[in-house]
Amino acid sequence: MESKVKPAEGKLGIMVVGLGAVTSTFMTGVLMARKGLSKPVGSMTQYDKIRVGKGTDKKYLSYSEIVPIAKLDDIVFGAWDVYPANAFQSAMYAEVLKEKDIIPVKDELEKIVPFTAAFDKNFAKRLDGDNVKQCATRWDMVEELRADIRKFKADNNCSRIVVAWAASTEIYVAPNMEVHDTLEHLEAAMKANDTVNIAPSMCYAYAALAEGAPFIMGAPNTTVDIPAMWEMAEKTQMPIAGKDFKTGQTLVKSGFAPIIGTRCLGLNGWFSTNILGNRDGLVLDEPANFRTKEVSKLSTLESILVADNQPDLYTDYYHKVRINYYPPRNDNKEGWDNIDIFGWMGYPMQIKINFLCRDSILAAPLLLDLCLLSDLAARAGRSGIQRFLSFYLKAPMHDYTQNEEPVNHLFQQYTMLKNAIREMGGYEADEEID
Ligand SMILES: NC(=O)c1ccc[n+]([C@@H]2O[C@H](COP(=O)([O-])OP(=O)(O)OC[C@H]3O[C@@H](n4cnc5c(N)ncnc54)[C@H](O)[C@@H]3O)[C@@H](O)[C@H]2O)c1
Repeated sequence: MESKVKPAEGKLGIMVVGLGAVTSTFMTGVLMARKGLSKPVGSMTQYDKIRVGKGTDKKYLSYSEIVPIAKLDDIVFGAWDVYPANAFQSAMYAEVLKEKDIIPVKDELEKIVPFTAAFDKNFAKRLDGDNVKQCATRWDMVEELRADIRKFKADNNCSRIVVAWAASTEIYVAPNMEVHDTLEHLEAAMKANDTVNIAPSMCYAYAALAEGAPFIMGAPNTTVDIPAMWEMAEKTQMPIAGKDFKTGQTLVKSGFAPIIGTRCLGLNGWFSTNILGNRDGLVLDEPANFRTKEVSKLSTLESILVADNQPDLYTDYYHKVRINYYPPRNDNKEGWDNIDIFGWMGYPMQIKINFLCRDSILAAPLLLDLCLLSDLAARAGRSGIQRFLSFYLKAPMHDYTQNEEPVNHLFQQYTMLKNAIREMGGYEADEEID
């Protein structure tokens, strides 16, 4: 089959906003895998196989056998952060990985020094680093970020750039249809230095798109989840993806809720709580920052177990999500889910799930896949919201102004992902999304 995608020639620059636990774990893992010292476990672009063809013609191919995916060897890393620590120092500070898994790539990690951040303390009160740009307006932030991207691209001889946000969750910025509705309004607000409606993350996204780079939102920020950014993505013909990496508890939820739904069991309540002690947990301990996360985490269930479709089973169930900052656990987040279901004649039952996970170990392969697949999408000429990447995201973007529904069901999302890869590879998309 002929792939319809431009080849992945030259270097791919992956520039990550935030050089914290997730980013340093991601970069270390890629560099270690490149040296043959570790395996990129959890990355679907590196491991998964998709069926193409049917009946006796069917075969299972890896993603790179179907479409041209950039090679790990061709990646160059860049970053921005509020703190000046390089990627080696950041990996050591995060304590996600053992020293023995970092030291072999120390030299390469040390060379990844963050650019100064486009930052506003009002959006993340618990951070106090000083590696920040001094900008008079949000528009100046955009200009400086664009210059960073251009410099990085030239210095590293990259043919393409992807920008991904893996920085702290900002305070919740509600979409404001007088500012976020059109690109013209958004640009005017940036120039007028509207520091309420324009989050620093929006400056990164705008700068990336303006420089011809796809943008991925890994936190629950509303950054690119606004019509003005969709317009910018169309204007620049660039893909955008978001929001919020679907790593631990929500992954389990979006995979488990279909068990209840397909068996037509009822739901009275789903209580999810977490303890974590990394810097992400510290930032999320601030109520305004948690609000952003809460909105994102709550949306999953409502679109899988839908009251309107099954009023006997799913009307008025109680859904609660909590995150508690608990330093002793650091990055090793523990998630508990208590699910109150009911069965035949309404008799109640309970399910308990206790996931002792590692936040950044789960997030790193997602970041890799999202970057490689966004780069692929750009080369395939796809622009705007990439719904096929919903699989990786807690609150998948969708055009809510047109009442478009998000797809949260894990297995529907997987079908969307496989179909997009098949189509880009010149194969038929042949599974219906029910
Ligand atoms: N690990 C997971 O499972 C997971 C899942 C979903 C989402 N996320 C999100 O990924 C993000 C990163 O998580 P983490 O554990 O690496 O956090 P972290 O606190 O270790 O790292 C975030 C980094 O971002 C930097 N930062 C904050 N604002 C910035 C700005 N404006 N510009 C540049 N840098 C900035 C901080 O200084 C910090 O070093 C968080 O928003 C988190 O909510 C993580």
